[in-house]
Amino acid sequence: MSDLKKIKEEFLEKLKGGLNLSEINEIKSNLFGKNGLISSQFKKIGSIAESERKKFASDLNIIKDELQDLIDRKMDEIQNAEINEKLEKEKIDITLPERTFVRGRIHPVSQTIDEISSIFSEIGFSVEEGPDVENEYNNFTALNTPDNHPARDMHDTFYLDEKKEKLLRTHTSPVQIRTMLKDNPPFKIIAPGRTYRSDSDQTHAPMFHQVEGLHIDKDINMGHLKGCLNYFIKEFFEIDKIKMRFRPSHFPFTEPSAEVDIGYKIKDGKIIIGEGDQWLEILGCGMVHPNVLKNVKVDPKKFQGYAFGIGIDRLAMLKYGINDLRAFFDCDYRWLNHFGFDPLDVPTNYRGLSR
Ligand code: PHE
Repeated sequence: MSDLKKIKEEFLEKLKGGLNLSEINEIKSNLFGKNGLISSQFKKIGSIAESERKKFASDLNIIKDELQDLIDRKMDEIQNAEINEKLEKEKIDITLPERTFVRGRIHPVSQTIDEISSIFSEIGFSVEEGPDVENEYNNFTALNTPDNHPARDMHDTFYLDEKKEKLLRTHTSPVQIRTMLKDNPPFKIIAPGRTYRSDSDQTHAPMFHQVEGLHIDKDINMGHLKGCLNYFIKEFFEIDKIKMRFRPSHFPFTEPSAEVDIGYKIKDGKIIIGEGDQWLEILGCGMVHPNVLKNVKVDPKKFQGYAFGIGIDRLAMLKYGINDLRAFFDCDYRWLNHFGFDPLDVPTNYRGLSR
């Protein structure tokens, strides 16, 4: 058998096997590669006797085309088979049920902060924030509460170092100091945020929330304070007839000072606001002490005003009928599903604390 015939026979034999793409590529390069069987035959043409050369060359070309053609067809076949197999495997099953997705709920405290901020922003208050880790000066001294002042004992403070210079802020009042130090009067701000005291029972948690209010301008008096808080309470509880009382009190940073209670009753285990003869303290307030203004380089002869600090968690408990403050921070998913809010219902003009 001539060389050419042998090459062709062998090739046809190999082609019968179930080949994959890399095997067929190998066969291709064995034939047509630089030193492949067919390529070597071409190199031989010059050394063949003239009488046979023409026929040899023509036979060689025919075989070359034939083999080339068979290889191309085989490659197409393999590629098509691979694509079909892929299509078969990756078929989308449209009968599968869709994936469920769960929309989160807004925590009642976050919702309440958004509501409070929204109400105050409508009467011209802007929102300030301060850090949870405060220094002793901003939390106490600048607020007219020097070392050894008895009021310091009333705040069961978490100190962070032995020298008692760093602490977890016990109230949001240090944001008053920060705000007045960085700007010039007038000031009209609220500052919602987390606060900390070593305390835990049904109405106290070691971490809780307050919103501070501060309004300093020329000729601000206690009437403005009362009007502002009255407006806020009515808006917040969405009740016109609200029972509210100012009780004389003492804070080192305000003079005179008051605490504000709102009236409620419990009927069939539910809290009803604005009726009954039970009182719940919800905030402390007063006219900013001249010493505080002096500490932040504001002239108390020219400027004065009021401040207040509202317990946010207490307001949320009252408004949404939640009896135990500690449940707020238990992270019980079932509780959150029940008391939480739809994210699409949150007031849109203010988007809450950075959280
Ligand atoms: N910071 C006070 C507290 O936490 C509340 C308060 C704020 C009172 C502002 C007066 C003025 O008890």
